[in-house]
Amino acid sequence: MCGIVGYVGQHAVGPILLKGLKRLEYRGYDSSGVALFDEGGRSETFKAAGKIAAIEPMVLAKDQTLFHGGIGHTRWATHGAPNTTNAHPHRVKDLVLVHNGIIENYREIQKLVYARGYKPVSETDSELFAFLVMFEMEEHKIDLIEGVRRAFPKIHGSSSVVIMSEKQPGLIVAVRNGSPLVAGWNKEFGAIVASDAQPILDHTNKVYYLENGDMIVCQKSGIQFFDAYSGKPVERKEVTIDWSADRLDKNGYAHYMLKEIHEQPRTILDTLHAYFEDQTHRPFEFAKNAGIDQLSAAQRLSIIACGTSWHAGLLGRYWFERYTHLPVDTDLASEFRYRNSHFTPGQVVMGISQSGETADTLAVLQDVNKNKVPTLAITNVKGSTISREAKSIFYTYAGPEIGVASTKAFTAQMLMLVLLAGRLGRDLAVNDSQGKKMIEIDRLYRELFEVPHYLSMALETGGSTANAVKKAAQDTLHSKAFFFIGRGYSFPLALEGALKLKEIAYVHAEGYAAGELKHGPIAMLEPGVTVIVIAPKDIWYDKTVSNLQEVKARGAKIVAVGHADDKTLASMADHFIPLPLQSKKPDGQSTLDESLTPFLISPILQLLSYEIALSKGTDIDQPRNLAKSVTVE
Ligand code: F6R
Repeated sequence: MCGIVGYVGQHAVGPILLKGLKRLEYRGYDSSGVALFDEGGRSETFKAAGKIAAIEPMVLAKDQTLFHGGIGHTRWATHGAPNTTNAHPHRVKDLVLVHNGIIENYREIQKLVYARGYKPVSETDSELFAFLVMFEMEEHKIDLIEGVRRAFPKIHGSSSVVIMSEKQPGLIVAVRNGSPLVAGWNKEFGAIVASDAQPILDHTNKVYYLENGDMIVCQKSGIQFFDAYSGKPVERKEVTIDWSADRLDKNGYAHYMLKEIHEQPRTILDTLHAYFEDQTHRPFEFAKNAGIDQLSAAQRLSIIACGTSWHAGLLGRYWFERYTHLPVDTDLASEFRYRNSHFTPGQVVMGISQSGETADTLAVLQDVNKNKVPTLAITNVKGSTISREAKSIFYTYAGPEIGVASTKAFTAQMLMLVLLAGRLGRDLAVNDSQGKKMIEIDRLYRELFEVPHYLSMALETGGSTANAVKKAAQDTLHSKAFFFIGRGYSFPLALEGALKLKEIAYVHAEGYAAGELKHGPIAMLEPGVTVIVIAPKDIWYDKTVSNLQEVKARGAKIVAVGHADDKTLASMADHFIPLPLQSKKPDGQSTLDESLTPFLISPILQLLSYEIALSKGTDIDQPRNLAKSVTVE
C-alpha cells in the first residue's frame, strides 16, 4: 500500500525523505514523488512512475540547504494509472498533499470541484481532498490546520493525509482515519511522520501511533496532537520500538526475502524466549497475558486471517485439535466478514495478522467487538491497529519483515499457535489429571527449543537440504504448472508453498490436500507439470505416498520433501529434498514430533520458491501488483 513520509527540521530534507521512502518500498508501489519546501514558502515537486530511483537524482541535484521541510510518497495505484501525473504529492494552489487510502465519495467531491470552476489535474481521488481544504480555507478565512480539520470529516472511507502549505511552510498537518500514521520527534532532528515506524527508526526509536480521528501538527519544535473532529488537544503515549534500524538492512544477502528466510532459527528463539520464563527444559509458563484466561474459558475458537496468515490459522487448527479439546474453525477474514456468522456462548475470535493493519481482519475484529464476543490477536507489529483493536494480544518476535512475501513472520505465527495450543492443552491435562497428555505437551515444548538447530541445518548454504532445493528449482523452473500436495499439517503448508511460488515467481501453482487430488486436479497431471509432495513420516505418510504413486503414473515430475532416511520417497521422486532429520533415533523415538515438522518444511518451501524466482529474474522483494500491508478491501 502507499507509503508516506513527511519531515520538518534542521537536517537535509531530500535525503531524509528518500531514505524514508526506501524503507517503505517493501509495502509495494508503482510511482513515487517528493515535494520540498524552502523557508520562504516556495515548494518544488519531483514525481515519476516506477521506482524511487527515478526521482532520486532530481531531488539530490537540489541544494539541500535551501529546504527545511517536505513530504514524500510511494503510490500503489487505485484510482488512475500509475503514471507521473497521478503520482503524489498533488498540488492545488499553495497546498501540497500526499494521501493513503480511498475516498469513497470522490464522485460527489469531483462534482463540487468542477461546479466551482476547477479542473483536477490527476485522475486520483487524493487530489480532490486538497480542493476541499482550499474551499474551507477560502470560505472561512482560516489557516491550514483549521482547513484540514473542517475538510476531513467530509471525506468517506479510510484515509490518511499529510499536507503542507506554501503559506505556512514550517508545519506539516497529518490526519488519520484508517491507514496508519506514526510520528517521531527529537530536538536535534525535528519532526517526522510516516506510514509506519521504519522510516522513523533511523532517527529515533521513540514514536507516537496516531489513533483514527487524530490530527497532528508537526513543527521542528515539536508535535501537537488533536482530535480531528472536535479540534481539542489529545494526549498520545510515546512508544519505544525495540527494533534497531540495522535490522532493516539486507546485511549482505541478495534479497530481504533470503535474509528473512535465514533469520528464522533466530526469530523462533526470540519468540520462544519472549514467552517462556526460563530456558530449562521443563514445562514452561507464559508470561502473564490476559489472552490465556480468555482462551482457557473458551468453548469454541474461531480463527480469522488473510493470505499467509490464514495458512498459519489453518495449521493452528491441527495443533489445537491435537493438544486440546477446543473446537476450532479457521476462516478467511474477507468471507467471515460478510457471512451471517452466528456467535455461540463461549466463542472467542482470534485474528492473525503479520502487519496488524489488514483491512478485512481488522473489520472482523471490530464487528466481533461490537457483538461483545472476546477477541484476541496474533501480530508482529507493536502499536498496530489490530493490536489495539483486539482485547488481548500475543506478539510474535519475528522483527521487521521487509520482503513482501511473508516468511519469518509466518513461522513466528505458527510458533505462537503451537505454543498456545500446548499451553491450553496442558491446563486441561492438569485439570483432568491426564498424565499422558501432559508428557506429550512437555515433550512438545522441549522439542520446540531444538527446532532452531534443525532449521539452521536445513538452511545451511551448501548443505544437503539447501543443495537439493537448488537442484530441484533449476530442473523444474520451466514447468507449465506446479501442484503442492500434502495431508494433515502438510496441507496448509502445500497451500502456503503454492502461494509463495505464485507471488514471487509468477508461475501457476496450486496447493491441494493430497486426498483431493483425485477429485479433480489429477486431470491436469502430465509431463511438464511438477508436483511437490510433502510427505514427512507422520500418521498421514502412507496415504500421501499412495497419492505420489498416482502422480508418478501420470508422468508429472515429482519433488518430494521427507525425512532424510526415507529411502522409499527418495527412490520414487525425481528430486528428493531431505529434512535434516531422521525419522527415528537409535532408541526408536522420533527425532522431532510430527507436529513440529512444519517448522522445517515451510522454510524449505520458501527457499524453493526463492530459487525458482531468482532463476526467473523476478522482483523478489517487491513482486508486481502486491502490497505488504493491505489496508484497503
Ligand atoms: C503472502 C502474504 C500475504 C499476507 C496477507 C495478510 O506472502 O504476505 O498473503 O499474509 O496479505 O497480511 P497480514 O498478515 O499482514 O494480515
